[in-house]
Amino acid sequence: MDDRPIGVFDSGVGGLTVCAAVRDRLPGEHIIYFGDTGRFPYGTRSGETIIRYSLEIADYLVRRNVKMIVIACNTASAVALDTLRSRVPVPVMGVIGAGARAACGRMGGGAVGVIGTRATVASGSYVKAVQAVRPGTAVLQQHASLLVSLVEEGWTDDEVTRLAARRYIDGLYDAGVRTLILGCTHYPLLKGAIRAVYPDLDLVDIGVEIALEVQAVLREKNLENAGLSGTIELYASDVTDTMQRLKNLFFGDDGSVLRKLVISGAD
Ligand code: DGL
Repeated sequence: MDDRPIGVFDSGVGGLTVCAAVRDRLPGEHIIYFGDTGRFPYGTRSGETIIRYSLEIADYLVRRNVKMIVIACNTASAVALDTLRSRVPVPVMGVIGAGARAACGRMGGGAVGVIGTRATVASGSYVKAVQAVRPGTAVLQQHASLLVSLVEEGWTDDEVTRLAARRYIDGLYDAGVRTLILGCTHYPLLKGAIRAVYPDLDLVDIGVEIALEVQAVLREKNLENAGLSGTIELYASDVTDTMQRLKNLFFGDDGSVLRKLVISGAD
């Protein structure tokens, strides 16, 4: 038993999808979530900047005595995971490996598709991760940047969003992709819209997958906190309407409060 919290961070609001999935699977765990809304988005920034931001947040979480850090952000997982693992004294989990392992376990033959931010796609991290599990697998990627803004706008069930999804995904679908990794924190909120267009696509929700892996690692390292009374502390570097709206969507009236927190070095 270990009642220290799990630290979860993201570039902004999207990581709440991961936070909610971890809370659903591990209701006994205390969670500290930090969304870097003040410096969002990460997906258009350089690797150097994403690593710097991620290190600042990880330092804060370590100071808060977390027992594990979960990088909910695909972009930060793609770019900063190795650096964080080499610098942080607790286990660090990224979503890319979890998503890749799940896709490989579920796919039949053919190609795996990935949609994500430009930085995630440019890093090639999902390609490497899938091919490490299933060498020789074709991995087709497509950035789907606009989908992030559509989620932020609240247009999760909208004709414009279905059109944008078509624009990004048609090429992957026509090339034979039937297993699609939703490689960005925001995209699980578009599962309904994507399924409406492509009912036979198997959508890999990285929040659900990383929650399973977090549980397995906590168990293996004897770090679990059993029970049902986990708490959630939510912080954001800027408390925006979108953050508040998504906080209410996922955590409603469960007593969790969203607070502003500017981590040193944040600009
Ligand atoms: N959390 C980011 C991701 O999963 C969302 C988009 C961004 O920061 O650019 O890649």
